[in-house]
Amino acid sequence: MDSKTQEKKNAALKAVEQVQSGMTLGLGTGSTAYFAIEAIGEQWQAGTLTDIRAIPTSEATATQARSYGIPLVELADVDRIDLTIDGADEFDPHLRLIKGGGGALFREKLVAFASDIMLVISDASKEVEHLGAFPLPVEVLPKAIRLVERVLTEKGCRPTLRTQKDGTPYLTDNQNYILDCQLGKIADPERLDLEFHLVPGIVETGLFLGLATQVIVGQGDEIKVFG
Ligand code: A5P
Repeated sequence: MDSKTQEKKNAALKAVEQVQSGMTLGLGTGSTAYFAIEAIGEQWQAGTLTDIRAIPTSEATATQARSYGIPLVELADVDRIDLTIDGADEFDPHLRLIKGGGGALFREKLVAFASDIMLVISDASKEVEHLGAFPLPVEVLPKAIRLVERVLTEKGCRPTLRTQKDGTPYLTDNQNYILDCQLGKIADPERLDLEFHLVPGIVETGLFLGLATQVIVGQGDEIKVFG
């Protein structure tokens, strides 16, 4: 395992220490969340974790969770989620995040919003002073793609339609498109997020603001906890 992957795993295992029997859990998406689901799944199978139910944030996560027999429910079936563990593409000193590199931002945001506690897990490379070096993923209704591309370009972003290897548009689990927006340093993430939400056709942005409770970072053999 390379050092970055080991950092992801270390952060994930640290976060899973907060998982308790009886909890309703949100399960994130991506290569870091993978290790958290693996650890939860192993504890579930060993019987050291009981009476849990989980809401997956993507079909890929649902498949992984099912492989351990973790009971899955829909977000619509629960009032609230006790604890969610998810990765991020960037985080800043205010625990603001960019997410969606893996395309699951919409369900990830729904689940994060419904959660009492959201633990973000990361390797050391994702810590930034200012969000925005990572292109901001924006989920867009396919019908509105031209409109949204034009509006975002007028706002000074450089949006790129995310595509698959064969060149066709990447489709989210919700059958929408993603525009990856080059913004450089985002001076005011809260304002940008509000502005984007005013554009019809934008389903959700990858800005996660005021949602993370803690960011748990693997750095070499150490763990740093923010928040
Ligand atoms: C999925 O849509 C994303 O939000 C991921 O949580 C994020 O991209 C982090 O992924 P990795 O853990 O694979 O870096």
